[in-house]
Amino acid sequence: MTNDLQPTLNVQAAIEQRRAARSFRADAIPEAILTEIFRLGVRSPSGYNLQPWRFVVVRESANREKLKACAFNQRQVGEAPVVLICCGDRRINQKEYIESVIQLGQATGAANDAYADMMRSAIPQLFENKPSFDSLEAWTNRHTMLAVAHLMIVAKSFGVDTCPMEGFATAQVKEAFNIPADVDVCCLLAMGYAAEPFKQYGGRFDIDQVFYQETFGES
Ligand SMILES: Cc1cc2nc3c(=O)[nH]c(=O)nc-3n(C[C@H](O)[C@H](O)[C@H](O)COP(=O)(O)O)c2cc1C
Repeated sequence: MTNDLQPTLNVQAAIEQRRAARSFRADAIPEAILTEIFRLGVRSPSGYNLQPWRFVVVRESANREKLKACAFNQRQVGEAPVVLICCGDRRINQKEYIESVIQLGQATGAANDAYADMMRSAIPQLFENKPSFDSLEAWTNRHTMLAVAHLMIVAKSFGVDTCPMEGFATAQVKEAFNIPADVDVCCLLAMGYAAEPFKQYGGRFDIDQVFYQETFGES
């Protein structure tokens, strides 16, 4: 599904102008724009295309207040017209789920029978051996936060501000929003139109402080 909506900012401008908004106007995000942000946000990549991210879209003011109480009363949660509870679902290692990803690949023509069989053996092995992660939660968090990054940049390109938040109590959020035990809350993402006080750019380290040549630590 695509639609005709065009972003108002290109990628470079969206990245440079995105700020973590600390306050939001009450204005709603037009439904078509929100849907387009969601659609593009989940074009984010994931290992074996497993797409472990899940989002609870919280819009009703009573629910935002409930969420705010789980988020150390951060004002953005009460003010933003939309707050996403961004979750990583650890059930992606279940057989039926892997089959659903295979079917998706088959439907698009991306997965032939050989590739489907490779996925049936390689994915369980990945989660058994965990060569590049310590826990399934780390793996789902890795991917969910990539999707959150996509969402933030896409949102800004459509003029929508965001605030990612780790200031929340996981157990409280899970209980209040019926989040299953094997689903983790990775962050909250407030979305809407920023209001004063606007947050100033806090700067970033120079690229030669964080990019190394060939070996870690070599600038
Ligand atoms: C994972 C994550 C968690 C964050 N948690 C919070 C939070 O709980 N509350 C908040 O106001 N800002 C939070 N922030 C926003 C950061 O403070 C902000 O991104 C950082 O200061 C850089 O500012 P900028 O995003 O405007 O460039 C979080 C950012 C990230 C990426």
